[in-house]
Amino acid sequence: MSGGGKVVAGNWKMNLGPREALDFPSGLRVPDGSAAEILLFPPAISLAGLREGLERSGLSHRVGLGVQNVYFEEAGAYTGETSVSMAAAAGAGHVLVGHSERRHVFGETDADTARKVAAVLRGGLIPVLCVGENLDEREAGRVEEVILRQLETVLASETIRAPLGSGARFLLAYEPVWAIGTGKTATPEDASAAHAVLRSHLVERLGDRGREVPILYGGSVNPDNAGELMSADEVDGVLVGGASLDPDGFSRIIHAA
Ligand code: 13P
Repeated sequence: MSGGGKVVAGNWKMNLGPREALDFPSGLRVPDGSAAEILLFPPAISLAGLREGLERSGLSHRVGLGVQNVYFEEAGAYTGETSVSMAAAAGAGHVLVGHSERRHVFGETDADTARKVAAVLRGGLIPVLCVGENLDEREAGRVEEVILRQLETVLASETIRAPLGSGARFLLAYEPVWAIGTGKTATPEDASAAHAVLRSHLVERLGDRGREVPILYGGSVNPDNAGELMSADEVDGVLVGGASLDPDGFSRIIHAA
């Protein structure tokens, strides 16, 4: 990706309720002049609390908010789901789509992720599409095949390629499943290799616009390895799970950016 600062995104998963979200920003430090783009994805129910906490700490202009999932329909009888417009009204600007836990714990398919990315773009929000292979797939030498299939299912849709081609923002996160929550981080070389594969496909499908899509790495990122990962080729930022739950640790990752 050319220009701009690194993206430092925190995915809280099913952690930190409204009260903890309200308190979180009081422990967050963003260095003056930092070019990092900071994003937080709290549970949807904690979004309002986090938003208020950021305002109280004077950080609302520095931290973008997102949700971890949406449903692709606008409204209706879909118990437990959140629509794009509801997420937007609650203050979300970004939406994670196809996180590996959505795929592997909740059975979300490639086709579901494509419908969700289309809905997010239609609603004027920014999708962050997550892709990544599991351990069996890596050991079988299928990394490239798996991540390209996950990306191409989305880019194959003209309804998605059209807005991306005319400038709608889109982020990609490479999160190898074997590295998530395991303490096993991909090496900077492994991350760069996977990102390069994704980058060339983005450029093939979107032309020069494909060069502008930030590609984040996720999987056991912590304050000690974040700097090295973010300086690897083609790594435009990080998507942090466990280490984003503590404002001090997350601040250290922002500092490393
Ligand atoms: P961990 O950082 O806890 O490994 O989680 C990564 C992740 O899934 C972020 O979306």
